[in-house]
Amino acid sequence: MTLDVFSVIGGKEATDGAVYDSINPSRLDEVVARVRLADAGTFAAACRAAAVAQREWERVPAPVRGRVIASIGRLVEANAEALARLVTREIGKPYAEALGEVREIVDTCDFFLGEGRRLYGQTVPSEMPDKNLFTFRVPVGVAAVITAGNFPVAVPSWYLVPALLCGNAVVWKPAEYAAASAQALYRLFAAAGLPDGVLGLVLADGAQTYAGLETALTEGTVHKVGFTGSSEVGRRIGELCGRHLQSPCLELGGKNPMVVMPDADLDLAVEGALFAGFGTAGQRCTSLGTVIVHESVHEDFLARYTRAVATAPIGDPGGDVLCGPLLDHKFAERYEEYLGWIEPHHTVVSGPTGRITPDNPRGDFTGEGGLYYHPVVVDGVRAGDRLFLEETFGPIVGVTAFGTLEEAIGLANRPGYGLSSSIYTTDPKAAFRFRAGIGAGMVSVNNSTSGAEAHLPFGGNGRSGNGSRQSGMWVLDQFTRWQAMNWDYSGRLQKAQMDVAEIVPDLGFRL
Ligand code: UN1
Repeated sequence: MTLDVFSVIGGKEATDGAVYDSINPSRLDEVVARVRLADAGTFAAACRAAAVAQREWERVPAPVRGRVIASIGRLVEANAEALARLVTREIGKPYAEALGEVREIVDTCDFFLGEGRRLYGQTVPSEMPDKNLFTFRVPVGVAAVITAGNFPVAVPSWYLVPALLCGNAVVWKPAEYAAASAQALYRLFAAAGLPDGVLGLVLADGAQTYAGLETALTEGTVHKVGFTGSSEVGRRIGELCGRHLQSPCLELGGKNPMVVMPDADLDLAVEGALFAGFGTAGQRCTSLGTVIVHESVHEDFLARYTRAVATAPIGDPGGDVLCGPLLDHKFAERYEEYLGWIEPHHTVVSGPTGRITPDNPRGDFTGEGGLYYHPVVVDGVRAGDRLFLEETFGPIVGVTAFGTLEEAIGLANRPGYGLSSSIYTTDPKAAFRFRAGIGAGMVSVNNSTSGAEAHLPFGGNGRSGNGSRQSGMWVLDQFTRWQAMNWDYSGRLQKAQMDVAEIVPDLGFRL
């Protein structure tokens, strides 16, 4: 069954626009959704409608908004299987992972429903008598949220849930190739009772979105931009927001390193590297980029890793597999370019590369009808290689060797991203030295680079973002601004710094 997906602005569907087909990447002849793409003008109109709706929404008491978030969580939980099945069908994420993704929305709602009764401000002592100081969290206004399709429902919820809880309106532009999943999530949010216009859904291509965002920023109807996607597009969005004196929340690419120390439990490290490298077909921003393994265990690790990769189940994402297809044609094409970065000094230890076809099968699996690719492990990558330095969104992992921990940390930081990282060791000193030396926003010890929990700060540094953090209480600083208030009830003008009582110490005093 093909779904019809439209943008929704001020509660009304926008049925015009060019048609885009969102396909099932495991059955390429199946159109999951026929999507009407909006233009820049529609995006800007959605932001205007959101700006009007926001004024009423911020007047709804925060605990009541928290109840709406609670309802969203319940609705998502009650519809978990249906939503996960749709995610699997539309982007090829293995069903167990898709269910985990849906769980992440519920976790996010569970965290923020209580925040409706907190959203604490402070009472602060004044330097003068008969004067009180306070701080308040104030919603920013309208948030424009632009998300990728590899986590088509969980990552959007990281923005939508706290933004709405804090009293903002949101215009959400999901990835076109994940439009049906986005529409389903939108409908669950709407069913929780959000007033029309508080959440808008706009389906548009990148160029129209950028133009619409530029108009909205100029018109003053967008006050915060959230973007999850490539570092390249993130840079453009950051520039645009900078021109309007705004700092966006950017969650960009990663080249996430995993250091394997000589004292590591190698089987555990292999298990972690398998999931980190090839879970979600390597298409998480937290996916493993390069394994940096100590020279004394390099060969042993590589032999075990190669064996694990060779026997990992790949196929129909509805089944019990590690890896399904790539997300969409666009990602498959780009991944084939990355395969071109394999150089003569590299050794592909995993067997065939490229698309799985009857002529290039993986055992009995011929990959027919889907965007399936061989998982690739490349040994001998060097610090100057493109394969070492750039994100390669897809099922490919590089391996390189090191001598000292300092060298490993240097290699881990070298690409200049800074999202996630991991170290396998049984030595606490190594774990803490790695933590202190790594530039990443997230550090795992004896765990995969991917799989962050929904209530720790999520975000990166360097090429992975501008230092903004999502999730947990940290994201509140993205969607609220602090307002400071002082109230003087002395009945006279008390001048700060000047009319302050002085208590004179005897600083020359010695025992
Ligand atoms: C992403 O790929 O954009 O930590 C997010 C993880 C997931 C989120 C990934 N919870 O791997």
